[in-house]
Amino acid sequence: MQQWPEPVIHVQSLSESGDRAIPERFIKPPSERVTAHQGPEKTMSIPIIDIGGIANGNKFDEETMRALSNACKEWGFFQLVNHGMNKEIIEKAKEVWREFFHLPMIEKQAFANSPVTYEGYGSRVGVEKNASLDWSDYFFLNIFPKNLRNYEKWPSFPNSLRETTKNYTKEVVKLCMMLMEMLSLGLGLDKEYFREAFGGDEYGACLRACFYPKCPQPELTLGLSSHSDPGGLTVLLSDDHVTGLQVRKDGEWVTVKPVPGALIINIGDQIQVMSNDIYKSAEHRVQVNSEKERLSIALFFNPKGDIQLGRLNSFCLHISLLFSSITLLSMNIGNS
Ligand code: OGA
Ligand code: NI
Repeated sequence: MQQWPEPVIHVQSLSESGDRAIPERFIKPPSERVTAHQGPEKTMSIPIIDIGGIANGNKFDEETMRALSNACKEWGFFQLVNHGMNKEIIEKAKEVWREFFHLPMIEKQAFANSPVTYEGYGSRVGVEKNASLDWSDYFFLNIFPKNLRNYEKWPSFPNSLRETTKNYTKEVVKLCMMLMEMLSLGLGLDKEYFREAFGGDEYGACLRACFYPKCPQPELTLGLSSHSDPGGLTVLLSDDHVTGLQVRKDGEWVTVKPVPGALIINIGDQIQVMSNDIYKSAEHRVQVNSEKERLSIALFFNPKGDIQLGRLNSFCLHISLLFSSITLLSMNIGNS
């Protein structure tokens, strides 16, 4: 069985060690670091889309449709408010995952992942020796199709984590289905277009809870290097109070200022391709800080595993694609 090429360093242990300097492997080249911007970052922000009317079961209204479609064309990112998702489920999801990351290391280690399926508790993506590392730990789980769901890999503590994660992901997938209808209509296509292109009921979904511990030298590293998401749609439940996510727009990095209770939605590479590049899969990254830890929960909603990828049996199993897109992006940047 494939294993990590070197012992995995959990960022949370580094953060708690009290060292004032981060290990060299986490130091990014100057061109990739966050610089103090004076430019558009101050004034630009990703669109906020209010679907209050629709979430209550009303028909899609023209104005909302246009706003959502434009957001996907111009930014590939937006914050969704009045999305109709149960507030308690959302708060509970954040609570259980935060509790998990605060468990003693030995208990988290019981779920240590391997680069075969990536399911479980981990800190790195990719098996390249001496690779540059990001300042974050994560927990990765396959959610759909159900036959890939393995509850043994799901933490049993805190007690309600499994139930909460099940409820949360079920609701998010419902929301994704609705967003896909809107995205189809926004292209002037039948509302079932994306749903069918994703394999109907055989879509895939996986979850990554990301934990960004406090960092003593945040200006030298990144919580997550610049990448675009390889799948269909991503629904991100972000920390309401700690910023960190940045989206690249017209060459500038724009910091997302989370609206409390909103969900952050972004288009992945697959929808960019299926829409003929009309909808954008935007580059994004995560900045860390020395004051506050940050938690986010990403749900990747993906086409059926073997639709685009031939014999690869699941999109979710190939999170390494994410890693290759990071590499490709940095190559593109390097070449431009
Ligand atoms: C991701 C991602 C952003 C965040 O997991 O792909 O971009 O804020 N996460 O954690
Ligand atoms: Ni991402």
